[in-house]
Amino acid sequence: MKPFTLPNDFYLGTATAATQIEGGDKNNNWYEWSTKNTIKGGGTTLRADDHWNRYREDISLMKRLNQKVYRMGIEWSRIEPENGRFDDEAMAHYRDEISLLLKNGIKPLLTLHHFTHPLWICKEGEFETERIVKYFERYVRYVVKNIGDLVSDYITINEPNVYVTNGYIFGIWPPAKKNFKLAMKVYINMTLCHIAAYKAIHELRDGFAEKTMVGVANHLRIFRPYNNFSPFDRITAAIVSGLFQNEIVSLMSKGTSGPVLRFFSPKGIQGNYCDFIGINYYTRSTFRLRGFKDIVRPGLPKNDMGWEIYPQGLANLCESFYKKFKLPIWITENGVCDNDDDIRSEYIFNHLEQVALLCKKGIPVERYYHWSLLDNFEWLDGETARFGLIHVNYDTQQRTVKRSGEFYAEICKEHGVTQDMIDRYFDGQQIDEREKEVAGSK
Ligand code: GCO
Repeated sequence: MKPFTLPNDFYLGTATAATQIEGGDKNNNWYEWSTKNTIKGGGTTLRADDHWNRYREDISLMKRLNQKVYRMGIEWSRIEPENGRFDDEAMAHYRDEISLLLKNGIKPLLTLHHFTHPLWICKEGEFETERIVKYFERYVRYVVKNIGDLVSDYITINEPNVYVTNGYIFGIWPPAKKNFKLAMKVYINMTLCHIAAYKAIHELRDGFAEKTMVGVANHLRIFRPYNNFSPFDRITAAIVSGLFQNEIVSLMSKGTSGPVLRFFSPKGIQGNYCDFIGINYYTRSTFRLRGFKDIVRPGLPKNDMGWEIYPQGLANLCESFYKKFKLPIWITENGVCDNDDDIRSEYIFNHLEQVALLCKKGIPVERYYHWSLLDNFEWLDGETARFGLIHVNYDTQQRTVKRSGEFYAEICKEHGVTQDMIDRYFDGQQIDEREKEVAGSK
């Protein structure tokens, strides 16, 4: 491990999502799904981190961790609980939270859709129907009219590829369907929603001094064949990579796509619809055609959810997507499920070290939002999977900054890692050594 530095204008912070931290909202698709005994550990979204009531405490913790940027979600089901009825009180609550962030020198990045939407949208057919485009644009216009003077940075949709894959291919997330054609239709409607939102945000923010930045948070992975010499595994990895990420990123950024989505796309939507490429990066997928499995080769470091830890993949993706789109790169999520916090500091070190190398090469990676500020509701894994820099006792809602949180706070302050930090935070145990240790204990 060697010290590294990041550019002085490189922004470091954390990311969360409304449903995963706020608690208290029953009027959305994920609360309804979580009440159907679908969540590991049996919880629902109802309590999460009670952030709706504790945002002042959590912002003081962000300040303590030297955050300069914070990616947060706004809950459509709170803003528009019924079709066409907007809740000004809920909007005022988010305005108070964002004003407090700004008062603490923390710049917000606002996610408008992070897998969740109001129950009335479910009844209207969600993203399966093109009606959603006008509903989504109307919601976005209401939000930006009420917060656009404070917020210049927006993510319209979080991980459309994960929403489609889990909700319409694997059928394990709401609305739990398995229909490829419908999945492609949802991709198209999400793209049309993003384009409409992109145009509306820029129109409504026209004239504000702060540059408006609008993009998508794309879940990107490295896909590789399990057997490098198997043409079947190679073709499988390439097809999955194309369908899971490459085609949809291109469609949402430029309105053009690869052979599959092009078949389903409307004509004439070509244009520039992203001001940055948002990358949510966690892991590498290793595909084998036999049994169509995503597997981690034996002996490689993994997180507590079994995802391979592969820091080089972050650099590969940032570089390749920059070269393809020539847009600034914002790492809008990167983190590790590590319930005992014994590898998170090294995970952060290894991934940010890759980012520092990219910056030195002149690749414009501008921001890093660590997932996540707090342990939070991890979708199907509920409260059992911990990604936070801050531990949350869900019964008492007590927050405790983890050692990795202290480490990250020093990185945010120093804009890098010094030798002194390496000496104080690492006892020389690398992740792969831990892997051997864990393997040995099996
Ligand atoms: C996403 C995620 C987050 C997860 C995180 C860890 O935005 O992609 O679903 O909401 O909690 O990625 O899985």
